[in-house]
Amino acid sequence: MNIEEDFYQNLIHRVGKDHLIKRLIRQVNFAAKFYAKGGYTSFHIENMELIYIFLKYFLKLIGLYKRGLKNSVDYKIEQIPVYLKNLPPQFNNFKILQLSDMHANMIYDEGRGLINTLKKLKADLCILTGDYRFLTHGSYKEAIEQTKEIVKAIDATHGFWGILGNHDFIEFVPGLEDSGIKILLNESVKVQKDGAEFYLAGIDDAHLYSCHDIYKALSGVPSKAITILLSHTPETFVEANEAGVDYLVCGHTHGGQICLPGGVHIFANAKCPRKLCSGLWRYKNLLGYTSRGTGSSSLNVRFFCPPEITIHELKSTI
Ligand SMILES: [Fe+2]
Repeated sequence: MNIEEDFYQNLIHRVGKDHLIKRLIRQVNFAAKFYAKGGYTSFHIENMELIYIFLKYFLKLIGLYKRGLKNSVDYKIEQIPVYLKNLPPQFNNFKILQLSDMHANMIYDEGRGLINTLKKLKADLCILTGDYRFLTHGSYKEAIEQTKEIVKAIDATHGFWGILGNHDFIEFVPGLEDSGIKILLNESVKVQKDGAEFYLAGIDDAHLYSCHDIYKALSGVPSKAITILLSHTPETFVEANEAGVDYLVCGHTHGGQICLPGGVHIFANAKCPRKLCSGLWRYKNLLGYTSRGTGSSSLNVRFFCPPEITIHELKSTI
Protein backbone atom coordinates (compact mmCIF):
# COMPACT_ATOMS: atom_id res chain seq x y z
CA MET A 1 0.00 0.00 0.00
CA ASN A 2 1.46 3.42 -0.96
CA ILE A 3 1.36 6.52 1.26
CA GLU A 4 -1.73 7.93 -0.46
CA GLU A 5 -3.73 4.71 -0.12
CA ASP A 6 -2.60 4.44 3.48
CA PHE A 7 -3.84 8.01 4.14
CA TYR A 8 -7.31 7.32 2.72
CA GLN A 9 -7.56 3.97 4.53
CA ASN A 10 -6.70 5.67 7.82
CA LEU A 11 -9.36 8.31 7.20
CA ILE A 12 -11.97 5.68 6.33
CA HIS A 13 -11.12 3.96 9.59
CA ARG A 14 -11.60 7.23 11.50
CA VAL A 15 -14.57 8.91 9.83
CA GLY A 16 -16.21 6.12 7.83
CA LYS A 17 -16.42 5.66 4.08
CA ASP A 18 -19.66 7.68 3.68
CA HIS A 19 -18.24 10.74 5.41
CA LEU A 20 -15.02 10.63 3.39
CA ILE A 21 -16.84 10.24 0.06
CA LYS A 22 -19.25 13.10 0.94
CA ARG A 23 -16.37 15.39 1.96
CA LEU A 24 -14.27 14.65 -1.15
CA ILE A 25 -17.19 15.04 -3.59
CA ARG A 26 -18.22 18.36 -2.02
CA GLN A 27 -14.61 19.62 -2.10
CA VAL A 28 -14.35 18.76 -5.80
CA ASN A 29 -17.73 20.30 -6.63
CA PHE A 30 -16.92 23.48 -4.74
CA ALA A 31 -13.45 23.82 -6.30
CA ALA A 32 -14.98 23.21 -9.75
CA LYS A 33 -17.29 26.20 -9.23
CA PHE A 34 -14.24 28.39 -8.81
CA TYR A 35 -12.27 27.09 -11.75
CA ALA A 36 -15.07 26.43 -14.26
CA LYS A 37 -15.34 28.84 -17.17
CA GLY A 38 -18.47 29.17 -19.26
CA GLY A 39 -21.38 26.83 -18.61
CA TYR A 40 -24.20 27.84 -16.32
CA THR A 41 -22.38 28.63 -13.09
CA SER A 42 -22.22 32.31 -12.25
CA PHE A 43 -19.72 31.98 -9.40
CA HIS A 44 -16.18 32.53 -10.69
CA ILE A 45 -13.05 33.30 -8.72
CA GLU A 46 -12.35 36.01 -11.29
CA ASN A 47 -15.46 37.87 -10.11
CA MET A 48 -14.56 37.45 -6.43
CA GLU A 49 -11.02 38.65 -7.05
CA LEU A 50 -12.32 41.72 -8.87
CA ILE A 51 -14.32 42.76 -5.80
CA TYR A 52 -11.26 42.52 -3.55
CA ILE A 53 -8.99 44.19 -6.10
CA PHE A 54 -11.50 47.06 -6.23
CA LEU A 55 -11.63 47.23 -2.43
CA LYS A 56 -7.83 47.19 -2.18
CA TYR A 57 -7.44 50.09 -4.63
CA PHE A 58 -10.28 52.00 -3.05
CA LEU A 59 -8.54 51.72 0.36
CA LYS A 60 -5.27 52.82 -1.23
CA LEU A 61 -6.99 55.78 -2.83
CA ILE A 62 -8.40 57.00 0.48
CA GLY A 63 -5.10 56.29 2.28
CA LEU A 64 -6.37 53.52 4.56
CA TYR A 65 -4.84 50.39 3.02
CA LYS A 66 -1.61 50.36 5.06
CA ARG A 67 -3.57 51.09 8.23
CA GLY A 68 -5.79 48.07 7.47
CA LEU A 69 -2.76 45.82 6.92
CA LYS A 70 -1.20 46.93 10.21
CA ASN A 71 -4.50 46.42 12.01
CA SER A 72 -4.56 42.82 10.73
CA VAL A 73 -1.52 41.95 12.88
CA ASP A 74 -2.33 44.11 15.89
CA TYR A 75 -3.39 41.19 18.10
CA LYS A 76 -5.68 41.63 21.06
CA ILE A 77 -5.51 38.99 23.77
CA GLU A 78 -9.03 38.24 24.95
CA GLN A 79 -9.12 36.70 28.44
CA ILE A 80 -12.53 35.13 28.86
CA PRO A 81 -13.73 33.73 32.20
CA VAL A 82 -15.98 30.75 31.41
CA TYR A 83 -18.29 29.75 34.24
CA LEU A 84 -19.41 26.14 33.84
CA LYS A 85 -21.78 24.49 36.27
CA ASN A 86 -20.44 21.17 37.58
CA LEU A 87 -16.95 21.68 36.18
CA PRO A 88 -14.64 19.62 38.43
CA PRO A 89 -12.73 22.02 40.73
CA GLN A 90 -9.45 20.55 39.48
CA PHE A 91 -10.07 22.54 36.28
CA ASN A 92 -10.65 25.84 38.03
CA ASN A 93 -8.53 28.46 36.18
CA PHE A 94 -7.61 25.92 33.45
CA LYS A 95 -6.53 27.99 30.44
CA ILE A 96 -7.50 27.06 26.88
CA LEU A 97 -5.76 29.13 24.22
CA GLN A 98 -7.73 29.45 20.98
CA LEU A 99 -6.47 30.43 17.56
CA SER A 100 -9.06 30.61 14.82
CA ASP A 101 -9.17 31.48 11.14
CA MET A 102 -5.42 31.95 10.89
CA HIS A 103 -5.38 31.87 7.07
CA ALA A 104 -1.71 31.30 7.81
CA ASN A 105 -0.17 31.62 4.36
CA MET A 106 -1.20 35.27 3.92
CA ILE A 107 -0.46 36.96 7.25
CA TYR A 108 0.78 40.49 6.51
CA ASP A 109 4.04 40.13 8.50
CA GLU A 110 4.39 36.41 7.68
CA GLY A 111 3.44 35.47 11.24
CA ARG A 112 6.32 37.21 13.07
CA GLY A 113 4.09 39.31 15.33
CA LEU A 114 1.83 36.39 16.15
CA ILE A 115 4.74 34.10 17.02
CA ASN A 116 6.33 36.76 19.25
CA THR A 117 3.03 37.33 21.04
CA LEU A 118 2.37 33.60 21.53
CA LYS A 119 5.84 33.00 22.99
CA LYS A 120 4.92 35.24 25.94
CA LEU A 121 1.73 33.32 26.77
CA LYS A 122 1.13 30.20 28.81
CA ALA A 123 -1.81 27.85 28.43
CA ASP A 124 -2.91 24.43 29.63
CA LEU A 125 -4.35 23.39 26.30
CA CYS A 126 -4.46 24.86 22.78
CA ILE A 127 -7.35 24.67 20.32
CA LEU A 128 -7.44 25.67 16.66
CA THR A 129 -10.91 26.19 15.23
CA GLY A 130 -10.22 25.88 11.51
CA ASP A 131 -9.42 27.88 8.37
CA TYR A 132 -5.67 27.42 8.09
CA ARG A 133 -5.55 28.43 4.38
CA PHE A 134 -6.18 31.92 2.96
CA LEU A 135 -8.34 30.80 0.05
CA THR A 136 -10.96 28.05 -0.04
CA HIS A 137 -9.15 26.38 -2.95
CA GLY A 138 -5.67 25.88 -4.41
CA SER A 139 -2.37 24.91 -2.78
CA TYR A 140 -2.29 24.36 0.96
CA LYS A 141 1.36 23.39 1.61
CA GLU A 142 2.41 26.90 2.70
CA ALA A 143 -0.56 27.25 5.04
CA ILE A 144 0.31 24.03 6.82
CA GLU A 145 4.01 24.90 7.06
CA GLN A 146 3.20 28.34 8.50
CA THR A 147 0.68 26.81 10.94
CA LYS A 148 3.43 24.45 12.16
CA GLU A 149 5.76 27.41 12.79
CA ILE A 150 3.06 29.27 14.73
CA VAL A 151 2.11 26.27 16.86
CA LYS A 152 5.77 25.71 17.81
CA ALA A 153 5.63 29.04 19.68
CA ILE A 154 2.84 27.85 22.00
CA ASP A 155 3.38 26.34 25.43
CA ALA A 156 0.36 24.10 26.16
CA THR A 157 0.96 21.20 28.52
CA HIS A 158 -2.25 19.30 27.66
CA GLY A 159 -1.62 19.40 23.92
CA PHE A 160 -3.06 20.80 20.71
CA TRP A 161 -6.48 19.98 19.28
CA GLY A 162 -8.03 21.29 16.11
CA ILE A 163 -10.86 21.03 13.63
CA LEU A 164 -11.26 21.81 9.93
CA GLY A 165 -13.03 24.88 8.57
CA ASN A 166 -14.56 25.76 5.23
CA HIS A 167 -11.14 26.80 3.83
CA ASP A 168 -9.64 23.41 4.67
CA PHE A 169 -9.58 20.20 2.68
CA ILE A 170 -9.61 16.88 4.51
CA GLU A 171 -6.19 16.27 2.92
CA PHE A 172 -4.81 18.82 5.44
CA VAL A 173 -5.19 16.32 8.29
CA PRO A 174 -1.86 14.40 8.02
CA GLY A 175 0.19 17.63 7.68
CA LEU A 176 -1.51 19.25 10.66
CA GLU A 177 -1.24 16.10 12.76
CA ASP A 178 2.49 15.82 11.90
CA SER A 179 2.93 19.12 13.72
CA GLY A 180 1.27 17.74 16.84
CA ILE A 181 -2.25 19.12 16.28
CA LYS A 182 -4.74 16.29 16.64
CA ILE A 183 -7.69 17.01 14.34
CA LEU A 184 -11.11 16.04 15.68
CA LEU A 185 -13.32 14.79 12.84
CA ASN A 186 -16.64 14.28 14.61
CA GLU A 187 -14.57 12.82 17.45
CA SER A 188 -13.89 13.57 21.11
CA VAL A 189 -11.07 13.30 23.59
CA LYS A 190 -11.01 13.09 27.37
CA VAL A 191 -8.96 15.81 29.07
CA GLN A 192 -7.69 14.69 32.46
CA LYS A 193 -6.20 16.49 35.42
CA ASP A 194 -5.62 15.26 38.98
CA GLY A 195 -8.18 12.46 38.62
CA ALA A 196 -10.89 14.70 37.10
CA GLU A 197 -11.98 15.02 33.49
CA PHE A 198 -13.93 16.95 30.89
CA TYR A 199 -14.46 16.16 27.21
CA LEU A 200 -13.35 18.09 24.19
CA ALA A 201 -15.32 17.23 21.05
CA GLY A 202 -14.75 18.55 17.55
CA ILE A 203 -16.82 18.47 14.38
CA ASP A 204 -15.96 18.64 10.71
CA ASP A 205 -17.01 21.79 8.82
CA ALA A 206 -20.70 22.65 8.95
CA HIS A 207 -20.64 25.96 7.04
CA LEU A 208 -19.68 24.88 3.52
CA TYR A 209 -19.29 21.11 3.50
CA SER A 210 -22.04 20.19 5.99
CA CYS A 211 -19.94 17.24 7.16
CA HIS A 212 -20.52 17.82 10.86
CA ASP A 213 -22.13 15.22 13.12
CA ILE A 214 -22.42 16.45 16.69
CA TYR A 215 -24.07 13.25 17.96
CA LYS A 216 -21.26 11.14 16.51
CA ALA A 217 -18.69 13.48 18.05
CA LEU A 218 -20.38 13.08 21.44
CA SER A 219 -21.00 9.35 21.15
CA GLY A 220 -18.19 8.41 23.54
CA VAL A 221 -18.97 11.16 26.07
CA PRO A 222 -20.68 10.16 29.35
CA SER A 223 -24.02 11.98 29.75
CA LYS A 224 -23.02 13.93 32.89
CA ALA A 225 -19.55 14.95 31.70
CA ILE A 226 -18.73 18.57 30.94
CA THR A 227 -18.38 18.95 27.18
CA ILE A 228 -16.67 21.66 25.20
CA LEU A 229 -17.44 21.48 21.49
CA LEU A 230 -15.17 22.89 18.78
CA SER A 231 -17.22 23.95 15.77
CA HIS A 232 -15.76 26.11 13.01
CA THR A 233 -18.93 28.17 12.76
CA PRO A 234 -21.52 29.32 15.33
CA GLU A 235 -24.23 28.18 12.88
CA THR A 236 -24.38 24.84 14.75
CA PHE A 237 -25.79 26.54 17.88
CA VAL A 238 -29.27 24.95 17.76
CA GLU A 239 -27.91 21.43 17.27
CA ALA A 240 -25.24 21.93 19.94
CA ASN A 241 -27.86 23.08 22.45
CA GLU A 242 -30.12 20.12 21.66
CA ALA A 243 -27.19 17.73 22.06
CA GLY A 244 -26.47 19.05 25.56
CA VAL A 245 -23.11 20.69 24.86
CA ASP A 246 -21.95 22.91 27.76
CA TYR A 247 -19.70 25.30 25.87
CA LEU A 248 -19.40 25.82 22.12
CA VAL A 249 -16.18 27.45 20.87
CA CYS A 250 -16.04 28.68 17.28
CA GLY A 251 -14.85 31.33 14.85
CA HIS A 252 -15.39 31.70 11.10
CA THR A 253 -17.19 35.07 11.17
CA HIS A 254 -13.99 37.14 11.70
CA GLY A 255 -16.33 39.33 13.74
CA GLY A 256 -17.02 41.02 10.40
CA GLN A 257 -13.29 41.85 9.82
CA ILE A 258 -14.15 45.22 8.23
CA CYS A 259 -16.56 46.83 10.65
CA LEU A 260 -18.17 50.15 11.39
CA PRO A 261 -16.94 52.16 14.41
CA GLY A 262 -17.81 50.27 17.59
CA GLY A 263 -17.15 46.90 15.94
CA VAL A 264 -20.56 46.73 14.28
CA HIS A 265 -20.20 44.20 11.50
CA ILE A 266 -21.58 44.68 8.00
CA PHE A 267 -21.10 41.09 6.86
CA ALA A 268 -20.21 37.98 8.89
CA ASN A 269 -20.88 35.15 6.43
CA ALA A 270 -22.94 33.14 8.91
CA LYS A 271 -26.63 32.29 9.13
CA CYS A 272 -27.13 32.95 12.82
CA PRO A 273 -28.27 35.79 15.06
CA ARG A 274 -25.98 38.83 15.09
CA LYS A 275 -25.15 38.39 18.82
CA LEU A 276 -23.55 35.01 18.02
CA CYS A 277 -21.09 36.50 15.52
CA SER A 278 -18.45 37.56 18.05
CA GLY A 279 -17.63 37.26 21.72
CA LEU A 280 -19.35 35.43 24.54
CA TRP A 281 -23.04 34.57 24.10
CA ARG A 282 -25.77 32.33 25.43
CA TYR A 283 -28.51 30.46 23.60
CA LYS A 284 -30.94 28.68 25.96
CA ASN A 285 -28.74 26.24 27.97
CA LEU A 286 -25.74 26.64 25.70
CA LEU A 287 -22.87 28.99 26.46
CA GLY A 288 -20.77 29.91 23.44
CA TYR A 289 -17.85 31.99 22.28
CA THR A 290 -17.15 33.20 18.75
CA SER A 291 -13.63 34.39 18.03
CA ARG A 292 -13.15 37.39 15.74
CA GLY A 293 -10.36 35.30 14.24
CA THR A 294 -6.59 35.50 14.47
CA GLY A 295 -6.04 36.03 10.74
CA SER A 296 -7.88 37.65 7.88
CA SER A 297 -9.26 36.40 4.60
CA SER A 298 -10.08 37.71 1.13
CA LEU A 299 -8.11 40.91 1.78
CA ASN A 300 -5.83 40.95 4.80
CA VAL A 301 -7.06 44.21 6.25
CA ARG A 302 -9.10 44.88 9.36
CA PHE A 303 -11.00 47.92 10.59
CA PHE A 304 -12.65 48.35 14.00
CA CYS A 305 -12.28 44.60 14.51
CA PRO A 306 -8.86 43.58 15.87
CA PRO A 307 -7.57 40.05 15.38
CA GLU A 308 -7.62 38.02 18.56
CA ILE A 309 -5.84 35.36 20.53
CA THR A 310 -8.36 33.99 22.99
CA ILE A 311 -7.69 32.55 26.41
CA HIS A 312 -10.72 30.78 27.85
CA GLU A 313 -10.20 30.50 31.59
CA LEU A 314 -12.49 27.81 32.97
CA LYS A 315 -14.22 28.56 36.28
CA SER A 316 -15.99 25.99 38.32
CA THR A 317 -19.39 26.94 39.81
CA ILE A 318 -21.75 24.85 41.91
FE1 LIG B 1 -14.50 29.93 7.77
